[in-house]
Amino acid sequence: MTVRIVLFTGKGGVGKTTTAAGTATLAARSGARTLVLSTDAAHSLADAFGVQLGAEPVQVAENLTVHQVDAQRRFERSWGEIQGYLMSVLDAAGVDPITAEELTVFPGAEEVLALLELRSHVLSGRWDVVIVDCAPTAETLRLLALPEALNWYMTRVFGVQRRVVRALRPVLTKAAGVPMPEDAVFEAVERLHRDLEEVQQILTEKDATVRLVLTPETVVVAEARRSLTTLSLYGYTVDGVIANRVFPTGSGDAWREGWVVSQRAVLAEVRQSFVDLPIWQSDYSAGEPVGASALAAFAEAAYDGDDPLATPSGEGPMTITRTATGAVLRIALPFAQRRDVDLARHGDELVVTVGSYRRLLALPAALSRHVVSGARVEDGSLQVRFRFEQEEQP
Ligand SMILES: Nc1ncnc2c1ncn2[C@@H]1O[C@H](COP(=O)(O)OP(=O)(O)OP(=O)(O)O)[C@@H](O)[C@H]1O
Ligand SMILES: [Mg+2]
Repeated sequence: MTVRIVLFTGKGGVGKTTTAAGTATLAARSGARTLVLSTDAAHSLADAFGVQLGAEPVQVAENLTVHQVDAQRRFERSWGEIQGYLMSVLDAAGVDPITAEELTVFPGAEEVLALLELRSHVLSGRWDVVIVDCAPTAETLRLLALPEALNWYMTRVFGVQRRVVRALRPVLTKAAGVPMPEDAVFEAVERLHRDLEEVQQILTEKDATVRLVLTPETVVVAEARRSLTTLSLYGYTVDGVIANRVFPTGSGDAWREGWVVSQRAVLAEVRQSFVDLPIWQSDYSAGEPVGASALAAFAEAAYDGDDPLATPSGEGPMTITRTATGAVLRIALPFAQRRDVDLARHGDELVVTVGSYRRLLALPAALSRHVVSGARVEDGSLQVRFRFEQEEQP
């Protein structure tokens, strides 16, 4: 049984929590066992549903459970040991297998824990639908880039160390002053590594999608466009845009008419920008949509008859096509220009940088023994050509 996962992200205050809660309410009313989970430390789900919530999941309506992950608590329970060790390693002189650049993607414990919580809910078999109310864009992107980045980090730091550590432990500890981890730490790290790999798999499958929430304002739309590029870079499928807080037309004063006109222009830009995606629209209502009925009404108006849980058709953000001489790897990078994209090959990894985001893409086995023979950015995608290379004779 697959679980339909929908994540909501967007700039601060645009209506992510409201839209996530509204979508979850509709899902629950359609009979799906629904969980809505918040990865945002601000935890506004309680306010949206108008209920009190603790750190444990709470059922707020039929088929509908809300869980605000209390990262701090989980942190102390399970992550402290690993984190403590990492800090001591990084502090210790002489051990620096990673560059500063790569360190910048090193996660906060809270984000890791939110992901692990998501994983255990998805695997629990208790839910048909999991809705995720994310933190504002930058944090969400960091969160979603994390499983792969951490995977990379762990293979490098721990994979290498484990092989040498047993034999050298006594020597190293004395000589370099580098603390050697206990076996329990290694085991915890390995478990974490596996779990995060699973999270990444769960989130990049067809049943998991991301929706961009925006308000019709130029800066907000610009950020949403950049998020679409970055999400695609990391292999996530964006399946819709919600334009929230749209001023309804009709009789109004000059102030409101002014807003209607300027929003109309921005909405036209939104439609031009996200041509391949459904754009759902919701009015700026006279009051805050709080409580299950108001949230359901809000979401019903926004989706306007569309199935809020439909799984998108069409190809995902990354495809590989065989050619006569090798293969072409295509990564959708909407809006990206040639000058924004940088590409490098490191052994069996392809390093793709778009603006300030970087992806270390482990090349699929099908592309081993291929060399990169060219690349271009065209029609919103990066195309990398690979040529099959005969093995050299010794
Ligand atoms: N269409 C709307 N009409 C009226 N009020 C709205 C609408 N959408 C959201 N709100 C209200 O605006 C406030 C912010 O919305 P919400 O909490 O959903 O935004 P958010 O994107 O989750 O914010 P944050 O970035 O802080 O998490 C809330 O009080 C919410 O009730
Ligand atoms: Mg919120």
